[in-house]
Amino acid sequence: MALRPLAAADLDHLVALDADPDVMRFLSGGRSTPPSLLETKILPRFLAVADADHRFGYWAAEQRSTGEFWGWFGLIPEPGRTGEASIGYRLRRATWGRGIATEGVRALLNRAFGRHGLSRISATTYEENRASIRVMEKSGMTLVRRFRMPPEELAAEASFAADPTEQWPGWDVEYAITRAEWQRQPWNTTNNR
Ligand SMILES: CC(C)(COP(=O)(O)OP(=O)(O)OC[C@H]1O[C@@H](n2cnc3c(N)ncnc32)[C@H](O)[C@@H]1OP(=O)(O)O)[C@@H](O)C(=O)NCCC(=O)NCCS
Repeated sequence: MALRPLAAADLDHLVALDADPDVMRFLSGGRSTPPSLLETKILPRFLAVADADHRFGYWAAEQRSTGEFWGWFGLIPEPGRTGEASIGYRLRRATWGRGIATEGVRALLNRAFGRHGLSRISATTYEENRASIRVMEKSGMTLVRRFRMPPEELAAEASFAADPTEQWPGWDVEYAITRAEWQRQPWNTTNNR
């Protein structure tokens, strides 16, 4: 896998990714994200996260030799909390089960903690999204809290295209890892040097 900054030219990739009901199952109940929403709101918002030295932003994951698009990873600064960020990811169905999400999350954590000195990184998902929770666990993250995302927050989620009033039962979960916890991970790049 290779990671490169996501670009405006990735619009068709995002449209195809979000058109797969399996990919969207825990995000919108399976509904596709409207292409016009991706073009006018979501992708511009993704691209606006990138800062000059690429501490934060969204990256396209692709097959190293062919450049085939596999999905995206995002590292988004937490408003008002210096040194903290949240991480997100979405991959094409054809790539699942090969450790790609874990590889990408670990790579982003290594960059964020090792190169850019961040202090804490969190991730949220729906409690039934076991694959996503497993990725967080394999990346050294632990459960912080169970919560219900308020409708206004759901509506503001850049990647959420469904009607925010249609909440499913059950909990959202937040996982997180601190810099000290990252330092203890066997896969961190400081340990490997
Ligand atoms: C979640 C997602 C990114 C995982 O990608 P992936 O590349 O398959 O993840 P990995 O291969 O690195 O790890 C997946 C882990 O979950 C496990 N897993 C998969 N489905 C599972 C399930 N239904 N129940 C329990 N564990 C499951 C796998 O066995 C693996 O763990 P293991 O290595 O211990 O065996 C991918 O499924 C996806 O893009 N889903 C749609 C979008 C999404 O839900 N994004 C996250 C929103 S927060």
